Amino acid sequence: MKNPKKDLTQSFIPMRLVTVVATLLGCLLTAALCANAQAPAPASPEIEAKAHAMLAKLTLEQKIELIGGVDVMFTNAESVIGLPRFKMSDGPLGVRTWGPTTAYAGGAALAASWDPALAHKVGEGLGKDARARGVNFLLGPGVNIARSPLNGRNFEYFSEDPFLNASLVVPYIEGVQSQGVSATVKHYALNNLEYNRHNVSVDVDERTMREIYLPAFEAAVTKAHVDAVMNSYNLINGVHATQNDFLNLKVLKGDWGFQGVLMSDWDATYDGVAAANNGLDLEMPSPRFMNAKTLLPAVKDSRLKESTIDDKVLRILRTMLRYGFLDRPQLDTTASTYSVADRAVTLEGARESLTLLKNEGHVLPLDAARVRTVAVIGPDAYPAVTGGGGSSEAQAFEPVSIVTGIANLVGPHVRVLYTRGLPDTNEIFWGTHWEGGIKVCTYPSKDFIGTPEISTPPTIADWKPEMWGPEDKAPRSIRYTTGYKATKAGRYLILAAASGEDIFKVLVDGNTVLEQPHAEGQVPISTTIALTAGQTINLVAEYLPHSPGVRFGLGIANEADLITPEAKQFAAAADVAVVAVGFNPSTEGEGYDRTFALPWGQDALIEAVTAANPHSIVTLTAGGGVDTRRWLDKVPALLHTYYPGQEGGTAVAEVLFGKHNPEGKLPVSFDRSWDESPSAQFYYPVKGADTSLHVTENDHPPVDYAIPHVKYDDKLMVGYRYWTTTGKHPLFPFGFGLSYTTFSFSKLSAPTMSKSGAMVSVGFDVTNTGSVAGAEVAELYVSDPSSLAKRPERELKGFEKVRLAPGETKHITINLDARAFSYWDEPGHKWTIDPGKFVILVGDSSENTPLHADLSLN
Ligand code: BGC
Repeated sequence: MKNPKKDLTQSFIPMRLVTVVATLLGCLLTAALCANAQAPAPASPEIEAKAHAMLAKLTLEQKIELIGGVDVMFTNAESVIGLPRFKMSDGPLGVRTWGPTTAYAGGAALAASWDPALAHKVGEGLGKDARARGVNFLLGPGVNIARSPLNGRNFEYFSEDPFLNASLVVPYIEGVQSQGVSATVKHYALNNLEYNRHNVSVDVDERTMREIYLPAFEAAVTKAHVDAVMNSYNLINGVHATQNDFLNLKVLKGDWGFQGVLMSDWDATYDGVAAANNGLDLEMPSPRFMNAKTLLPAVKDSRLKESTIDDKVLRILRTMLRYGFLDRPQLDTTASTYSVADRAVTLEGARESLTLLKNEGHVLPLDAARVRTVAVIGPDAYPAVTGGGGSSEAQAFEPVSIVTGIANLVGPHVRVLYTRGLPDTNEIFWGTHWEGGIKVCTYPSKDFIGTPEISTPPTIADWKPEMWGPEDKAPRSIRYTTGYKATKAGRYLILAAASGEDIFKVLVDGNTVLEQPHAEGQVPISTTIALTAGQTINLVAEYLPHSPGVRFGLGIANEADLITPEAKQFAAAADVAVVAVGFNPSTEGEGYDRTFALPWGQDALIEAVTAANPHSIVTLTAGGGVDTRRWLDKVPALLHTYYPGQEGGTAVAEVLFGKHNPEGKLPVSFDRSWDESPSAQFYYPVKGADTSLHVTENDHPPVDYAIPHVKYDDKLMVGYRYWTTTGKHPLFPFGFGLSYTTFSFSKLSAPTMSKSGAMVSVGFDVTNTGSVAGAEVAELYVSDPSSLAKRPERELKGFEKVRLAPGETKHITINLDARAFSYWDEPGHKWTIDPGKFVILVGDSSENTPLHADLSLN
């Protein structure tokens, strides 16, 4: 792997002198800019003695107070030992909790850069941002595997591959912690879906955990020495993460030797004694369960040992002492709250991540000198969409939208025409003309039984997520009955929205066309149906609000009429049209999953713009793949932007106009359709489990519920592991991304034989065979065809990003350690190598590996 430090040397000055001077200058500069940056001290007998001395002064009650958080984002203070409270902040895309901040490219974008040096810079930037706000613990990075495109938080996480995740998380954490701020790697573990996240049990075998879902956490602990870990909400094999002995005690604190603080996710503790006994050190945000009332009796009747509490307190104290939190102010007034340096890092992140997926006829890059008018159309064009929704949402000082970025780049002599192109959700609800009126029956029961109150409103437009009614007036079930008459033949959008925790379904002529089954669903949701001119349909919507108040909206619109007339006019009048589609914080985020389809109307928008102007380029803002089937063959170019952070618009413009050569590579496979997605049939809970009762943040203490079990029967076949093993092909493979230049790979050298467990050194050349400078990611996969255990056809085990001038060649060496050839031996509970044949494959994506060499391990 490349050293994150850049080579500063110049040829005519002796190298050593330059290095020494550069190091000194670097130190002085760092010291001047951030006088208080201070990496944590290693554990030592002195720190241990201090921590024990502090512990000895505490009563059991005082110790228990220390293992619960306070005021949402703080650890608890204890005056007896002079311990102040310490501050936390989300993470992982920006130090968000305390006002405007630098919003970095999301995790998926960072992964698309395949650049550990960049991850280090982002970590360092976040560390400085945290110090500038007096933050002791940053609640990030998030490293859960992107198993499915639906997971609402993929944009925060990195990729579908454990090696790529591990390679990025280490420099990221080292960067944060180098600034005297503890990183908190999350969400441990198996939190790969947001759907019903408090309740689902992820049922998975140990081999799959060890090979796919745990390596990034393992690297965070064993290589980056992260000082805090956050448990997830979900259950793993029937046991909540916060009380999971296998994950917390056996693996994290046992196998990996984690010495830091294991904290809960916010309200992810469900049983105080079980959590205390099974590894949780700190309940956040408050001691709802690990408190004196629950734990004192447990200590008294020996269900819980006082030494177990002592261990938690010692972990907390040790961490505070090692970081020097008691000796220096965490608020570093020498650090910038508004940091120009960090703006540069976030711009670099966006530039390195944008991934060009299609460029038919080399429509890109655009020639700024020949473009007179550019139309920028779509919901993601303006305002800037820097990140997805939820706790990671960072409020940037001055985010650059795609429209702004393009306008800045093309300058005053080019016309920029902007329109959103689509109405907003409420406009559809307000604008629907229902045939024969609406009848609303509001039942006092939750199952449409009893005497309903009847009303006849003109619209079904109560979708206001912020509206809460008084508890006793809460309607328990509501049935809307109405009709709709199509004025002309065509495809009609049916759109419904409620709170993500509500349950509803919409029926057309007796058939269910939309359904949000229960907790933490996807909103708004839509479908389309074909209607003939004059056709009338009957609609029934059945709605069960989760909490008091009605938050439901329903509407129908002819798809062709959805598109604003300016969208087509602007597209037609422009030399080139950029259609900026995708998700945003209210359609992709924490607490709910997203749809595989683009949000409503956007497919139709792309079709309409492309029909008006064949030079249409689609930019896609999403944490991962989407359904492109309706339009991909009609558009010449597709640029995936992930969530590119506050400078995304600048980077998009630079890539479109060739000021920056695209270099991002997909960190996930792009599935053609949701049905074809490797996780599709294993994504939701297995049938038969009762999913009607559920827990949410509001349900404490938790009610009894039947656990919905999600069975990870796709096992190791996640993403490209599935595609390459089955020999089938996704739409775009993992590791793929186009450039404005071309590269070739040659001269692979690897030993033909080696000893199992010894380091294997692989060398090869990469050449820029095109006419512009660019960056390529060389990806190295290992295949183990003679393995006794069934293994995926290939697995990523090394990569390196190289920047090459036209015609330039660089030699790359990648060293493969024992883990690169190992798999988890389930019966033996250990990593193992089966001697025999291995194949080393090198190329520019998981599906294009022109170099290969056989290697025999004995
Ligand atoms: C999220 C965590 C976050 C925490 C604090 C939770 O809802 O899952 O990722 O760090 O809130 O905001």
